[in-house]
Amino acid sequence: MSELIIVKTTEDMGRLGAEMIASEVMGNPEIVLGLATGSSPVSLYKELVRMHKEEGLDFSGVRTVNLDEYVGLPTDHPQSYRSFMNENLFDHINIDPSNTHLPDGMAEDLDGEWARYDRLVDELGGIEIQVLGIGPNGHIGFNEPSEEFSKHTMVVPLTNETIEANARFFSSASEVPREAITLDIRHIMQAKKILLVATKKKKEILKKALEGRISSQVPASVLQLHRDVTVIFSEEE
Ligand code: F6R
Repeated sequence: MSELIIVKTTEDMGRLGAEMIASEVMGNPEIVLGLATGSSPVSLYKELVRMHKEEGLDFSGVRTVNLDEYVGLPTDHPQSYRSFMNENLFDHINIDPSNTHLPDGMAEDLDGEWARYDRLVDELGGIEIQVLGIGPNGHIGFNEPSEEFSKHTMVVPLTNETIEANARFFSSASEVPREAITLDIRHIMQAKKILLVATKKKKEILKKALEGRISSQVPASVLQLHRDVTVIFSEEE
């Protein structure tokens, strides 16, 4: 069953999303959280940090797996997804860094790396709750519109639309990496719960994903087949 919650501000979206994650963490202190980067979950992470600092929300046993990482950006590059997660969440909570996982976009053997990451998620027992944003083209993770839904973690070329959309984080579009390693649709769909956060600028694509035909050309539309999806939509840009 899926639930759509519409809130006024991005702050409300973050607060509600964080409450959902916090109650899962309190219910299972060793939970495996699936995490996303990008602007959509920033307010959610900010609120989780506040809950940790002011209310003692405990992350000491929590394990995390991120959806994706750019290929070719060193871990300490300011735009790597590892840097994003450290800055927005991990550095401000009591999580054990060795329990935080992202694909290694600098691995020499990229095929070996996606296979390792794919196995890792299974070895952790799968994802309890997966946080998602949605791309302007309907991608989730970096599962871009394509002929079929992906069944394993993989290295993917980014579409021009995604490169343009992500150029805002770099000094120019030419600096955006052309490839990423992404967790696949199968792993996302196997998460027990899904929490998708999106703001006003995603209104059209979100409607298409939630109400349109299920198609790998709109990857997020597959979520219509998941039994426990919560979408929090902020009416603010
Ligand atoms: C990020 C990710 C992407 C983003 C999507 C939306 O880890 O997997 O699918 O969630 O590109 O990005 P924002 O939130 O920046 O609009």
